Amino acid sequence: MAGLIPTLIITGHTTLAQGLAIIVRRQLRSPGGWEAVTEGRIEIADLVEEGLRLDCPVVGMYRTALREVTVAGQTLPAGSKVLLLYGAGNHDPAKYTAPDRHLPERWPTAGHLAFGRGIHYCAGAAPARLELRIALEELAGHLPALKAAADAAPVWRPTFPLRALTALRVRP
Ligand code: HEM
Repeated sequence: MAGLIPTLIITGHTTLAQGLAIIVRRQLRSPGGWEAVTEGRIEIADLVEEGLRLDCPVVGMYRTALREVTVAGQTLPAGSKVLLLYGAGNHDPAKYTAPDRHLPERWPTAGHLAFGRGIHYCAGAAPARLELRIALEELAGHLPALKAAADAAPVWRPTFPLRALTALRVRP
């Protein structure tokens, strides 16, 4: 239990803060992107999914093969360390049309790996989706004129597996 509490705080807070910053940044940088949110021309739930797909906050995770296994023609001996790159899977051209383009209209059916897959699928995916939607709705309602600050070149943390901005400078 003692180990779980910090895990939940980190997994439940940092990922969400990063997801929110990444989604807001993308809308502020795209011409008319924030107005589309404040004027209700874009479905916020779809914006959340497409934002998490494109700029996956948890880029990947390690696994260890417990036994020899063959995946896509590649045999991994028992004990192999495997890096599952969810962020790369989210840009798979075999799965998505124009994978590098921000297209909220591809939702609600596109699917993504931003919350992982299988038995370790994110335990907080449902509250995360809800919190991101509410946070974006509240931001749009309270700060309709939000703009990226002129000197807003992004600085990314040199960390893995979190894809994280150190700051997002904006004008209200
Ligand atoms: C946008 C926000 C979030 C993202 C992108 C995210 C992403 C992920 C990913 C990719 C995994 C799978 C890791 C793996 O493959 O081993 C994961 C697991 C997990 N997440 Fe999240 N997460 C988010 C929010 C949350 C929140 C809000 C909570 C808690 C309230 C949470 C709790 C957990 C826990 C406990 C696990 C471990 C599940 C397990 O190993 O069985 N996450 N998350």
